[in-house]
Amino acid sequence: MQNDPTPAARQLSPRRKTTTATSLAELAREQLAHFHLDPHSPIGAPLLRLAERLYAAHGDLAELWAATTRELADLPRGDRLALFNAKKFLTFQLAKLLDTLQNPTRAVHQSLGHSAATTLAKGPYPTFDNVAALFSANPVITRTATYIFACTEWIDDAFQGREFLHEIYSRLLNPTSISLANHIVEIEAGPLAHEYLAWNFNSGMAAIDSLLAHLVGYEDVVLASRNVYGGTHQLLHDWYGKKSNLNVAVEFFDGATADDFERALATVRATYADRLAPAGARRIYVYLESPCNPHGVFLDVPAICRSAHAAGLTVILDATVGTPFLVRPLQESEPAARPDYVIHSYTKDLVGNGDTTAGVVLGRNADMFLPKGDPGWDHTLFWNVYYIKGAFLDADKAYEVLSGMKTLEMRMLKKCINTAILARWLASHPHLSVHGPANPTDPNAPLAARLSYLGLPAPLFTIDFEAAGLSRLTFERFFDSLSPMFGHMVSLGQSNTVILCPALTSHSELDPAALRAAGITPTTIRIAVGDEDPRELIRDFLATARLAIDPDLPGFSARFLPGADVDTLCDHVYLDVHRRHAAAAPRFATPN
Ligand SMILES: Cc1ncc(COP(=O)(O)O)c(C=O)c1O
Repeated sequence: MQNDPTPAARQLSPRRKTTTATSLAELAREQLAHFHLDPHSPIGAPLLRLAERLYAAHGDLAELWAATTRELADLPRGDRLALFNAKKFLTFQLAKLLDTLQNPTRAVHQSLGHSAATTLAKGPYPTFDNVAALFSANPVITRTATYIFACTEWIDDAFQGREFLHEIYSRLLNPTSISLANHIVEIEAGPLAHEYLAWNFNSGMAAIDSLLAHLVGYEDVVLASRNVYGGTHQLLHDWYGKKSNLNVAVEFFDGATADDFERALATVRATYADRLAPAGARRIYVYLESPCNPHGVFLDVPAICRSAHAAGLTVILDATVGTPFLVRPLQESEPAARPDYVIHSYTKDLVGNGDTTAGVVLGRNADMFLPKGDPGWDHTLFWNVYYIKGAFLDADKAYEVLSGMKTLEMRMLKKCINTAILARWLASHPHLSVHGPANPTDPNAPLAARLSYLGLPAPLFTIDFEAAGLSRLTFERFFDSLSPMFGHMVSLGQSNTVILCPALTSHSELDPAALRAAGITPTTIRIAVGDEDPRELIRDFLATARLAIDPDLPGFSARFLPGADVDTLCDHVYLDVHRRHAAAAPRFATPN
């Protein structure tokens, strides 16, 4: 029995697909023959023994894998820690084996005696130098376009998506990018991580476009929530909706509830009855953004998903603004309440520094990847789009995202507190309108309170001066004087507070009617709140109002919450949120 080449042992062979070996010893002899080595020579003999032991070891590792999968859930915590550390040490032992293999291999390589010109052109032979990287405390930035073929049959499997260790080309797969993909799945899906996969893209828009390109076909219908990022609006409207492209019908629904969605769905079904009949001819896709850009409004995503799924529809959710700190839609207990796909622009709060652009799509395993040839493989995001279209995320950027994400919780907690403080202070002014659930009197506040972690607002909301009756010039002079405390720049999700006028920038792609429908006026300012001291944000907003608005509207600045109450507001929100954050932490438990 011990000598039977198990499937795991066979996988290790350079002839894994064609071997005729019936024992581990035969596998080892076959391997030496494959590489033209005499097993009876002084070098061949130890190589043969080593190869046979490796085949046996791979069988043992497969058994360990199966046992771990079987037993893990029932192991006490102490035993899980012991298992982790034992396996970690084994990894380093294997690295030591590789390292011991390295030195004579380097000598063999050197003995080949290439000229300096050839050696320079080829560069150092990387494989064995890379072994020490296993000890790196951070994921390694694998900056390479190509990967060395192990052997013909392994690379054949790699091209069929049946050998993930063996990457082929970094436009397809790259270890640093895969490290990030695994990490975001773990964060988003938590205990359900084994059900989900992620593919990274070089921007949020590339992620959105790739998913739409994967799903949406000619003359399909997209029913989207009203407030989506302007770039998404433009992509849907100007590209997918264009007659000479896919002539997709793009419709937007107002409101945040399942009822609002269902009403819009009924209208869409009636409007596009011709396209949708005969049944199955054209499909409706549901595209949600929650919390949304620019107002930070929350949709009732679980309820809308339930309703869309009951109607047999696929739901896409752009969850960028909330980040997994505020909402984890894939962890809804009821599968029907989960979106089918979740998108993030990593560029925003997940990275948090504004120093890179990147995006991701998460979805169920079978929708994201299947080995080539398995039923449905060509309907997965990987083969249908990712593999072909080339909007991959490179290793350097993937590393930036991984680094940024480490501090997500601390940054978001502070930003959400700052948002609640700033929005309440701004809302204290009778002629300033504050939109989004950051304002406790906003109609969306109760829904956000129910869906968001600790009921916190996303660090994004809008204000407008329509009720104040500012002249255009006064508004512009006020806006232009808000820096440096309020950074004048597009984007959101940075450590510094940034502001823009959506009508001129992030949502300038919308026509006047679409802007009105999206609640964006000429004096709307979107505030993407950062980590600064909220008192200083308030201080400079007030000083700018005195400077730029009071000459036009005397007394305007005096109508905010009095200065003496600002500290009370700041202290109250800070302490209240921290108290609830502490109470929400899992209780210390000794068993298991
Ligand atoms: C909600 C939302 N989704 C997607 C995007 C696009 O992301 P990226 O800029 O990384 O392409 C943005 C950009 O502002 C956004 O705000």
